[in-house]
Amino acid sequence: MSNPPVPAASGASSPWWADAVVYQIYPRSFADGNGDGMGDLRGVMDRLPYLEQLGVDAIWLSPFYQSPQADGGYDVADYRQVDLLFGSLADFDAMLQDAHRRGMKVIVDLVPNHTSDEHAWFQAALGALPGSPERDRYIFREGRDEVSGSGDGKRAPNNWKSVFGGPAWSRVTEADGSPGQWYLHLFDTRQPDLNWENPDVQEEMRAVLRFWLDRGADGFRVDVAHGLVKEAGLPDWEGVAAMVEGTAGPRPDGHLPGDAPGAHTDAEEPHRAVSPMYPPSPFFDQDGVHDIYRDWHRVLDEYGGDRMMVAEAWVEPAERLARYVRPDEMQQAFNFDFLLAGWDAERMSEAIEASLAAAASVGAPSTWVLSNHDTVRHASRFGLKDPTTFPKGIAADDEQPDAALGLARARAATLVALALPGSAYIYQGEELGLPEHTTLPAEARQDPTFFRTRGAETGRDGCRVPLPWAEGQPGFGFSITHGGPAAEPWLPQPESFGPLAADQQDGEEGSTLELYRAAIRFRSARRLGLGSLEWTDEHAPDSGLLAFRNGDVLVVANMGFASAPVPEGYSVALSSGPEPAEDWAGMREVPVDCTVYLQPE
Ligand code: GLC
Repeated sequence: MSNPPVPAASGASSPWWADAVVYQIYPRSFADGNGDGMGDLRGVMDRLPYLEQLGVDAIWLSPFYQSPQADGGYDVADYRQVDLLFGSLADFDAMLQDAHRRGMKVIVDLVPNHTSDEHAWFQAALGALPGSPERDRYIFREGRDEVSGSGDGKRAPNNWKSVFGGPAWSRVTEADGSPGQWYLHLFDTRQPDLNWENPDVQEEMRAVLRFWLDRGADGFRVDVAHGLVKEAGLPDWEGVAAMVEGTAGPRPDGHLPGDAPGAHTDAEEPHRAVSPMYPPSPFFDQDGVHDIYRDWHRVLDEYGGDRMMVAEAWVEPAERLARYVRPDEMQQAFNFDFLLAGWDAERMSEAIEASLAAAASVGAPSTWVLSNHDTVRHASRFGLKDPTTFPKGIAADDEQPDAALGLARARAATLVALALPGSAYIYQGEELGLPEHTTLPAEARQDPTFFRTRGAETGRDGCRVPLPWAEGQPGFGFSITHGGPAAEPWLPQPESFGPLAADQQDGEEGSTLELYRAAIRFRSARRLGLGSLEWTDEHAPDSGLLAFRNGDVLVVANMGFASAPVPEGYSVALSSGPEPAEDWAGMREVPVDCTVYLQPE
């Protein structure tokens, strides 16, 4: 298969995002600039030279807005304020200016599906009457009459479950103390869903876009982009049956720590959080979401044409995802099919082919992503017995990944991602080859999915551990203390982080950090992100070989069980394997679990 170069991405006039390498910063865990053990914007600014040296084109920051942090900041109490944990608006402005000075764009996270329960609007809704304009900004409903049982005669308005486990509805107490209406929260109890039919909501989010665009933000990563619009009438969802398998026993206190003050959850059994991809449901991927993105596209257009949005939309198949990146909607969408393919040549080549075709059908560039703050790090997933599995966190009593195998495969997969046409996303720490923290004690856990599933799901803390910058320092140098004491990092780091610290890899031939730097340089010099893919004769996914040409670069990834020959007339320009660079030219075989970039001799 050969895909034509993306129209918008060809030639000198292509927009910056078409082939950008974007580095995801999870601000809590990237770098701590004030010694309190929590990452912050000053820490980001301090480490911009590191990112510049890595060669990335842009940074995307997960939320740093005012928030009670019930979901790591994806519960926003004020969309226009920086949380004190992370600094101030002045810190943001300074960081953005410095990033721009260094040639890096800045993408901020927009969380439009829900607010925090501490947002002024939700507080006003709680204090207002059923049917009031305040309540209409959220999704409040009366309960259904109970079929059997005692209590106060009500059940949740429908059978939807929270993505984080447990029911998707909580009941409020009305001002007179009586049990009252229910509100929808597709995520935590403390993340009430907004009502996107309400004009206040629409206008407010336009204003929030303009607020950050005015400050110089280059784009938005749109959280739960597939979720904003719900099917009229909020019908029960048959697919809910698939979500209720694997219920776990209640925690000893029987309490959900994320519960909103004054809210009671439906007293049902806890449920496992749902799979990242959903069968058609009345709450995801409704056609109405696209009107919102067309509207926002026009807002971005007011700012001169190269601002962008990237959709976090866990939808399939690739054709459904492509609808989010039609010419008048968003510019990019995360390619989760690629992330979910795992270390498997057949699955990966199918994902590549389907996503390139779907993206090209709407004239958009594809994206390539292997890890993020919601998924087990790929260096650990690929070290599991089945490297295509997608566990929801790894705990000490689960199968433990083979670290060396996982890292070799992760490095190889990254070389595939960085050689494909389109834009690539890197999650902080993957350039150090960091594994998931698989032995975090339960007491340290913070992810609401762990609590809402009563521990049935380990959750996402293991991929959110503060980065190691310097071996031998407290917290592996996570806190930049300017001589003062450093608090413990907000999540404990595993011992295995020490030798992987940035200072141990900087300038070290063969280190993962140097491999990422070299691969990004190579990709940029050969303009691979603006190129096109053509499978070659060597491509044999059923025997574990993925092989494609992009320009005059031949990429061979060996996911099989035997080494593969380097084709005649080619020599190795870059290898993910451990061999020293001086041996590359003489390499005549691609070892198992290795990717090479080949060039004509
Ligand atoms: C997205 C975010 C995730 C968050 C959820 C609710 O999936 O990536 O971290 O928990 O939305 O906002």
